[in-house]
Amino acid sequence: MRVLEIDHPLVAHKLTVLRDRSTHSSVFRQLADELVTLLAYEATRNVAVAPVEIETPVSGMTGTKLTNPKPMVVPILRAGLGMLDGMTRLLPTAEVGFLGMVRNEETLEVTTYANRLPDDLTGRQCFVVDPMLATGHTLIAAVNYLHERGARDITCVTLLSAPEGIATLSEAIGEDVDLTVVTAAIDDRLNASGYIVPGLGDAGDRLFGVVD
Ligand code: URA
Repeated sequence: MRVLEIDHPLVAHKLTVLRDRSTHSSVFRQLADELVTLLAYEATRNVAVAPVEIETPVSGMTGTKLTNPKPMVVPILRAGLGMLDGMTRLLPTAEVGFLGMVRNEETLEVTTYANRLPDDLTGRQCFVVDPMLATGHTLIAAVNYLHERGARDITCVTLLSAPEGIATLSEAIGEDVDLTVVTAAIDDRLNASGYIVPGLGDAGDRLFGVVD
């Protein structure tokens, strides 16, 4: 598994405002969107392209365009929805599939409550978007889900990651998956409640407000 922590002043600035507890939801959503666009630039470095012949106003030339099979962007509901637009903005040909996963806050176990994805993902490049790689259990379940349907090239895009989650994910996913994690920052640790420290709190609540 490759892990890419993006070292860029704009990412660091936006992430700092995002982490701040006084940042309002509307600004949080805007910043999350902007950050994902910056992460997507790195996450799509190996996206499939093909040469195409075009005519500029001056001459003919061989250019490059995104090719088939179309990339698949998979937001993990609910918080991953806040990252969807930022990702698809850079990947105009992408299709979008959905995985609904919820973490039991006491046991930290993850269950899948919804999915909307093609049965056959053979040969598809998949981009899983989820703001927080905390324990790693959600992304393990998501990556296994995609792999069972034939995907082998999977990139997880996260805003924050915990070292524990990175290690758990790396150990759980076999060599058969070409797995990359692109993240804006790797934080210090997880606390006893499974929150990333220093983190940014509950990403879903900060994006969309608290649901009781
Ligand atoms: N999920 C969140 O939203 N925040 C964390 O810190 C960990 C998991």
